[in-house]
Amino acid sequence: MSRTIYYTATTLDGFLADPSDSLDWLFEVPAEEGSASRRFEDFMAGVGGILMGSSTYLWILDHEKVLESPEKWQEWYGGKDCVVMTTRELPAVPGVRFASGDVRPVHASLVASGKDVWAAGGGDLVGQLADAGLVDELWVSIAPVTLGAGKPLLPRVLTAKDLTLTKVEPDGQFVHLTYEVTRR
Ligand SMILES: NC(=O)c1ccc[n+]([C@@H]2O[C@H](COP(=O)([O-])OP(=O)(O)OC[C@H]3O[C@@H](n4cnc5c(N)ncnc54)[C@H](OP(=O)(O)O)[C@@H]3O)[C@@H](O)[C@H]2O)c1
Repeated sequence: MSRTIYYTATTLDGFLADPSDSLDWLFEVPAEEGSASRRFEDFMAGVGGILMGSSTYLWILDHEKVLESPEKWQEWYGGKDCVVMTTRELPAVPGVRFASGDVRPVHASLVASGKDVWAAGGGDLVGQLADAGLVDELWVSIAPVTLGAGKPLLPRVLTAKDLTLTKVEPDGQFVHLTYEVTRR
């Protein structure tokens, strides 16, 4: 059965990005080849659909210069149904479609393949899915960084009734936590 998984890196104080959408703090953490990249590859092999907000999409386009080399998108996300939530008209990349408003029908279209859905962020968009009871798991890699302010990991109230810790994996300077989300 398809699972909807919020897989992301975060700071220790719960931010996805700094206030100006920079991820420099993330790339400064010494990376270790191995279990983290294998986990992500295995995860992506099970993913059929990807949902992200416009800031995340625009960050990828800008940071990875995707508009200059659109084949990069295919390389990373080829064959997956990728939806960007936005109220604006944004530059398009082959393989991406845009939607706005209620996340429930969008989510329904993403689970149609029967494969997992990667809720890629940002936090409020995943919150919209959680509000609708559509998130199954959180996969969170915590970096040894605090920012004090920025784009929040998940700006909703989820308590121990909602979240069950199922795995703890050290990854070099990161720790990767997996939680099951109780659907209400
Ligand atoms: N640390 C990590 O691994 C990680 C993971 C994910 C993201 N990030 C970064 O974290 C930041 C997240 O930014 P963010 O918090 O602003 O979140 P975001 O979800 O990427 O973007 C939010 C925007 O998406 C659009 N949107 C969201 N829900 C919508 C809906 N239901 N209908 C229509 N449009 C909708 C709105 O923009 P418009 O309508 O104005 O277009 C909204 O302002 C980005 O910089 C991203 O690169 C980091």
